[in-house]
Amino acid sequence: MTGAGVSVESGIPPFRGKGGLWESFDPMEYATISAFLKDPKKVWDVLLKAMKEVMDKAAPNDAHMGLAQLEEWGYLTTIITQNVDGLHQMAGNTDVIEYHGSFVKNYCMDCQKNYMISDIVLEQTPPRCSCGGIIRPDCVFFGETIPYENLMRSFEMAQSCDVMLVIGTSAIVQPAAMIPVNARESGATIIEINPERTPLTGLISDYILKGPAGRIMQQLVTEIKHLRE
Ligand code: OAD
Repeated sequence: MTGAGVSVESGIPPFRGKGGLWESFDPMEYATISAFLKDPKKVWDVLLKAMKEVMDKAAPNDAHMGLAQLEEWGYLTTIITQNVDGLHQMAGNTDVIEYHGSFVKNYCMDCQKNYMISDIVLEQTPPRCSCGGIIRPDCVFFGETIPYENLMRSFEMAQSCDVMLVIGTSAIVQPAAMIPVNARESGATIIEINPERTPLTGLISDYILKGPAGRIMQQLVTEIKHLRE
């Protein structure tokens, strides 16, 4: 399970903490569905434009690549990510549950036509569909429900996994923060990778590998490679 911290080394800021998005933007003003519906232009001009600028340039880092390697070796089946940046898929992971949806995908609120974020030009905001409807990101705003299939599959994965890596999440946003708790209650070993302690540390997680995800994942992959030789 991953959170914003896994993409920090790709140049995408996290939400909380120093340099976090919520330091510059009040989530109540820019990240709720009611704020978006009330003034989509304002939300596109400020928060979504800033997100697009960093995501257009971002590429997977060593943490994403390490997770793709674990899948290639057969140790990892599924990633549950709270991120909307699409970097796990870009790195090569094939089963990615995008718990909070995707910012790579966008759609028209009137006719449902899909648009990739890289194809959206923000000269005029909010961006509009060829039918004239307003385009919105396919991600979960605060105040919206988590897509049912994401909830169910994440719960199933948590209940059936042997080990859950919990990488780069502050583990305070619900219901996502319950996923490692469910995994632990079902007998999984929980390994956190994070430079900071979280509410899970020492209570839910069995281990914390302290440090940036890119470096730790690279070390982990190197160790496993030696063991496989
Ligand atoms: P947060 O911004 O809350 O937490 C980021 C976590 O990443 C923190 O625990 C940091 O210590 C850690 N971190 C920072 N740099 C790191 C690095 N290089 N390597 C590893 N970890 C690092 O992000 P999330 O937990 O993902 O929701 O936030 C959860 C949700 O809150 C998001 O999905 C978003 C937000 O509001 C919605 O938009 C619905």
